[in-house]
Amino acid sequence: MLLQIPGVLSAEQVKQFRSRMDAVAWVDGNVTSGHQSAQAKFNEQLPEEGAEARELGEVILSALSRSALFFSAALPKQVFPPLFNRYREGMTFGNHVDGAIRTHGPTRTRIRTDLSATLFLAAPEEYDGGELLVEDNYGTHGVKLPAGHLVLYPSTSLHRVNPITRGARVASFFWIQSMVRDDAQRTLLFDMDMAILRLAKERPGDAALVSLTGVYHNLLRMWSEP
Ligand code: NI
Repeated sequence: MLLQIPGVLSAEQVKQFRSRMDAVAWVDGNVTSGHQSAQAKFNEQLPEEGAEARELGEVILSALSRSALFFSAALPKQVFPPLFNRYREGMTFGNHVDGAIRTHGPTRTRIRTDLSATLFLAAPEEYDGGELLVEDNYGTHGVKLPAGHLVLYPSTSLHRVNPITRGARVASFFWIQSMVRDDAQRTLLFDMDMAILRLAKERPGDAALVSLTGVYHNLLRMWSEP
């Protein structure tokens, strides 16, 4: 499932993020790469042990903890401390699949990457190119969202970032270990949760709602590793 979560950060927060990030010396993005992706990746990154990455990352984690849509879609067990990257003109990240296990240097947090997330921190008008392209069974999906919006996609998918031809693409990226490892199962639960919410609005008090909510929780019980 590829899902957009709008408005994770407000315009004011994005502005604060950007001015904070502009004041930092960026490093080569390959500090966090595995061997294979190092050959495809050309970008810059905020030092992951720096105060900026840690503090801005915490703002993102706190925003996500208030998002019901994020919770329903990701069923997060653990969220990796957010990292930040920048692609300037000519920079790109070729086709790759994210490494299955990620260890965060400073905190030694280790997770299995079930979902990948990109939080856009530059407005689409600020740069040309830089679309995130994610492949699935239905083809290739191009994603370029307003600043403050997030996209979630299965970490199992092949993806890339188109070369930047003007300006700079700034984003936060991180991974989520889900209580439900399998993308197909997680997608079914999400679809069911959304349908239950719709039904609760349109037909509150309907006895079928109690049954469906029970089925949702019993499937979650069957499939989750909390
Ligand atoms: Ni990736």
